[in-house]
Amino acid sequence: MTYVVTDACIGCKYTDCVQVCPVDCFHEGENFLAIDPTRCIDCGICEAECPVDAIRSEADLAMDELRWVSLNMDLAQKWPTVTEKRPALSGADLMALRKNKLELLIR
Ligand code: SF4
Ligand code: F3S
Repeated sequence: MTYVVTDACIGCKYTDCVQVCPVDCFHEGENFLAIDPTRCIDCGICEAECPVDAIRSEADLAMDELRWVSLNMDLAQKWPTVTEKRPALSGADLMALRKNKLELLIR
């Protein structure tokens, strides 16, 4: 089992999550973060840190949300590790109100 970053993070990237991970699972893209499922120890600490509830346990995902696991896996292999909080993206608070943002994800 793993935790994964989901839709709500796209275009926001508040990065409160990255500094609490004990095993440095987070990887940073231009407008999204991904958790490396092969490193995640399923501790759940990061879930409460995200102000937009983008981090979810794989165990809580519905069938049609399971694609987030493979997406996190793929993107984590491509992107560099991030462990320090950064300023959120410009316009993050507005983007936080949007749903179904997958088409906006910059890979
Ligand atoms: Fe890191 Fe724990 Fe979150 Fe997994 S659940 S990404 S190990 S903080
Ligand atoms: Fe994204 Fe939430 Fe972390 S918006 S960067 S998952 S704190």
